[in-house]
Amino acid sequence: MKIAFNYSGNYSNLLTSELKQKIKRIHHGIHSKSGVGSDYLGWVDWPSSLHHEWLKELKDIAKEIREKSNVLVVIGIGGSYLGSKAILEALSKNFQSFNKLEVIFAGHLVSGSYLQQLMKYLDSKEVTINVISKSGTTTEPAIASRFLIQYMEKRYGEQAASRIIVTTDEKKGALRTLAIEKGYKRLTVPENIGGRYSVFTAVGLLPIAAAGYDIDELLFGAKMAQKELQGTDVENNPAIQYAIIRKNLYDAGYPVEILTSFDDKLKYVQEWWKQLFAESEGKDGKGIFPTSALYSTDLHSLGQYIQDGQRMLFETFLLIEKVDEDLTIFESEQNEDELNYLSGLTLHEFNQVCYEATSIAHLQGGVPQITITIHQLDERHLGHLLYFFMMACAYSAYLLDINPFDQPGVEEYKTNIFKFLKKPGFC
Ligand code: PA5
Repeated sequence: MKIAFNYSGNYSNLLTSELKQKIKRIHHGIHSKSGVGSDYLGWVDWPSSLHHEWLKELKDIAKEIREKSNVLVVIGIGGSYLGSKAILEALSKNFQSFNKLEVIFAGHLVSGSYLQQLMKYLDSKEVTINVISKSGTTTEPAIASRFLIQYMEKRYGEQAASRIIVTTDEKKGALRTLAIEKGYKRLTVPENIGGRYSVFTAVGLLPIAAAGYDIDELLFGAKMAQKELQGTDVENNPAIQYAIIRKNLYDAGYPVEILTSFDDKLKYVQEWWKQLFAESEGKDGKGIFPTSALYSTDLHSLGQYIQDGQRMLFETFLLIEKVDEDLTIFESEQNEDELNYLSGLTLHEFNQVCYEATSIAHLQGGVPQITITIHQLDERHLGHLLYFFMMACAYSAYLLDINPFDQPGVEEYKTNIFKFLKKPGFC
């Protein structure tokens, strides 16, 4: 299984001996876990180091959730939410809100009406809650947890504790203390894996497994990517290629990357990707600004700017080769809509033509292009893709001489909230 990777420019010219040396140093830093931010490089070999017993325990918890509940509320924000949201949205069917169990997210926004309506909706369901926060101190999910835990206690009395699962740091944080005091089941976020790199840990895996998707396949895909992307040979490592091209475009005056797709199932993969690259790279006055568009919808809104606006963005198409379900445009006797010229064309084929047409138009409009293609939208290919992006992101940030694993900018607003609201210790 390989990511198909194409670039509209000539990338072999970019490979100077200086760059090759830098790539070697970055590679060593990542794989020997000695690069800047090395305390958070645990994700690199995580997929291949998982123990069968650990996975079995996780699957047993997921099964138990399904046996006693028909809704799992996942409370988290940022990396504690976007990984599982991306996979669940990509694998779910439209107009059928869930697979084996409904997963609803909370704590990623602060809204009284959202929480009130959620609790009302939960009244007619059997519910389990998974509170996820690595630090255990993030205000938004903590607020949602306070309301939802109270809801569970009112509804289930002494049984509430058996329906609340906490995923947090092993050694510290208010959430960990709460879980111990109340006797909630606890899962840990490995100390050496940061939020946006945690989709293959319990953070992402429990909600995905509880919803009934195959986490073995997801991890298999990630493991394959881990194996494929461990060399320094640039020709055979699309993660390094992607990072080199991004850096070159950035240096050439393209500070914005737009990740575009023709499949709305990838909407949250785009959101996850945005968080991954923005928080990893956007530091020290540097970094590519990651944004996204969904086609054809956005061809009729952002398309104008992409084609013709300020020349500062490059485009990365994210394509899926094969679809499970499709429709063929049929011949109409009267042809009042004058569409008979399309008869016999499948909608997937239409999108492929639309991609080619868009690609040529944008290229002519001065938008450099990368195309990443995955074979199909299933657990295995998604696991592979997400790991690919994480590895590419690490290389990319290191090429900019940035620590990919901290997020000081995010911490600043969190600290301000604490100060403004006079949290003890912050005023
Ligand atoms: O990638 C990250 O580390 C962040 O986006 C965090 O996931 C986010 O800020 C939530 O933090 P926490 O899981 O500690 O609540």
